[in-house]
Amino acid sequence: MNNELINFDKNTGVFHLSNNEISYIIKVEQGDVLAHVYFGKKVDQYNDHHNYPRRDRGFSGNVPGQNERAYSKDTLPQEYSSHGSMDYRVPASIIRRENGANLTDFRYDSYEITPGKPTLEGLPSAYVLDENEASTIMVTLKDRFDDIYLDMFYTIYSNRNVIARSINIRNLTNASLSLEKIASMQLDLTHSGIYQDVLSLPGALTRERQMNREKISTGVKRFESRRGASSHQMNSFIALLGADANEFDGEVIGVHLVYSGNHCFELEVDQINQIRLIAGINDYNFTWKLKSKENFQTPEVLLAYSDSGLNKMSNTFHDLLRERVARGEHQFSERPILVNNWEATYFDFSDEKIEAIVDEAANLGIEMFVLDDGWFGHRNNDDSSLGDWFEFEGKLKKGLKGVSDYVHQKGLKFGLWLEPEMISIDSELYENHPDYLMQVPGREPSPSRDQHLLDMGRKEVRENIQKQIERILDSVDIDYIKWDMNRSMSDAYSIGLESQQQGETAHRYILGVYELMENLTQKYPKILWEGCSGGGGRFDAGLLYYMPQSWMSDNTDAVERLKIQYGTSVAYPVSAGTAHVSAVPNHQTGRMTSLKTRGDVAMSSILGYELDLTTLSEKEKKEISNQIIFYQDLRQLVQYGDFVRLKSPFEGNTTSWLFVSKDKSDVLLFVGRTLANAQPEFNEVRLKGIAEDFLYENQETRDVYSGTELANIGIYYPDFYGDFQTKLIHFKKIEGK
Ligand code: GLA
Repeated sequence: MNNELINFDKNTGVFHLSNNEISYIIKVEQGDVLAHVYFGKKVDQYNDHHNYPRRDRGFSGNVPGQNERAYSKDTLPQEYSSHGSMDYRVPASIIRRENGANLTDFRYDSYEITPGKPTLEGLPSAYVLDENEASTIMVTLKDRFDDIYLDMFYTIYSNRNVIARSINIRNLTNASLSLEKIASMQLDLTHSGIYQDVLSLPGALTRERQMNREKISTGVKRFESRRGASSHQMNSFIALLGADANEFDGEVIGVHLVYSGNHCFELEVDQINQIRLIAGINDYNFTWKLKSKENFQTPEVLLAYSDSGLNKMSNTFHDLLRERVARGEHQFSERPILVNNWEATYFDFSDEKIEAIVDEAANLGIEMFVLDDGWFGHRNNDDSSLGDWFEFEGKLKKGLKGVSDYVHQKGLKFGLWLEPEMISIDSELYENHPDYLMQVPGREPSPSRDQHLLDMGRKEVRENIQKQIERILDSVDIDYIKWDMNRSMSDAYSIGLESQQQGETAHRYILGVYELMENLTQKYPKILWEGCSGGGGRFDAGLLYYMPQSWMSDNTDAVERLKIQYGTSVAYPVSAGTAHVSAVPNHQTGRMTSLKTRGDVAMSSILGYELDLTTLSEKEKKEISNQIIFYQDLRQLVQYGDFVRLKSPFEGNTTSWLFVSKDKSDVLLFVGRTLANAQPEFNEVRLKGIAEDFLYENQETRDVYSGTELANIGIYYPDFYGDFQTKLIHFKKIEGK
């Protein structure tokens, strides 16, 4: 057991979680209120001198039982707030008793330190492979009057700047409780002078995860999803930044919620400029009936601290998500270069068309063919057949197995599209089980893309879908599945639940999806599973636990992708997202870009192609084969190296990022300029994050640079001519001075 990671001083009531880089300090305060003291850079020894000052705050009121006018829950930084007791800030929990009262008052009860890290039942979470990697403390709070317990879990890793937190609430009263809000964590920061900005990743369908930095200001701001999924509109991640923090300097706290449903981050600046941050399941449309003797586990939150800007925070999350959240056989595998037929054919495909694409793919060196939407039920457009996971008889004359065999004979892998959580009214599933469709009895459910959600909270619904999918996976040789989800939740109601439990529907849906994903990914471990939701509508840390990669966006325009990939990299590793070279004019924006630019941008991710290969010119074919050879050589570096953001497309006309292998010997620089102008300024970029004591050779020009030169003087951009120009420059370490 790694004892040094967590210490408790009985005399002072101080819990100190620390590794070589970070400290997290909690204190059992007067009246057993659990106070937050500190989260940040490592403190070697904390001698209990940062006790919260006392001051009479008048209308803020006082802690019950303490009779102390200068001591108020309305200002005291706490680890987890109750509702009531005159803490008027946003509460972490609201728990209603059968008598209608929603006042609770949680106080410190006990603690337990264990080696390693427990898993969360039914929920995704970060894990350990070895008990020495981390230690976990469970600090238990108890309501002052009732037997309601909050087990608060904190895990600290020995070599990562991360604290993982979650709450397990236990109802040991004899009556049911109604959980109206139960956040995964609260972080009360007294350092309002330090953390002045908040960075979030908002967006829209085809414009996911844009970087948005703003001032933290008085009042409450919510960053949330109410759509049943983590959403295109607001990713389940935020970061707090020091006023002077940038990519390389300054203090940053990153907060990742490991959850794929409705989430909410509430950021409050209180009356004396202190910050409270709450993160967890959104309380919108949420209640949970917690019966006597039952418990409820919240999703996990991952907190990362960086003393050197955003890039360091991102790297911490990249490593953690890649190494200790993603799982399975493909967690560290080099991901295959695929061609997907969606933008090539949409629903209009035949054996001949598919085989022609596959033939060309084989010639070009592409490694996998993915058959997208339209192969099942009687689906020739998007208004039918979801839920009918059997082959569309006659659409492919040789059948799915015929296509799979053909693809395999050509030496490629075969992948297939599924959308397991949906039902079309025009389907056999709906004919046989109209009640599987999520809707409010007696009302007309809102359609979206002519499809509806299945009530995935119900076991019989999941079992039906699982059986159908297993039938396909057992009869056809399939190497990859794209698991799509193409609408937001509405009409949240489950006929499987009693009336007071309807507020559980959205969360139960996600728990059901997680269970189905767990069952299928465990049963078919060889398959590479890719998540998708109209592109990146459910691109979150929770999904990554089941599927090591997700389709990042339905927007394949190389210029728009600069921002999407840059923004995504703030919170997610390159190995989590995929990018495709598609046709021009681009189907989403109408923009023309060169094949080189499209290739350079997609090669900065998990590369794929999504265009009709049979219409390519000989010159284009040559260029694509060269891209594939280039990428095959470098994909280990791209997918598993360190990623460094250098120049932001959100701030100007140029974009740069860098891939650096873990041993720093291999470096790939991406440079791009969006719009051309006459008399352009010369752009330079410094290669931060490489080894300054190495010598590097440019693999194209054979010029040799010292690491210090590349990092501190930098290099000039190429002399770009025209709009939307990019270049990938590969440097390799060479020996000798
Ligand atoms: C979603 C996906 C696309 C494609 C279509 C098929 O929009 O993001 O890539 O698979 O569904 O209907």
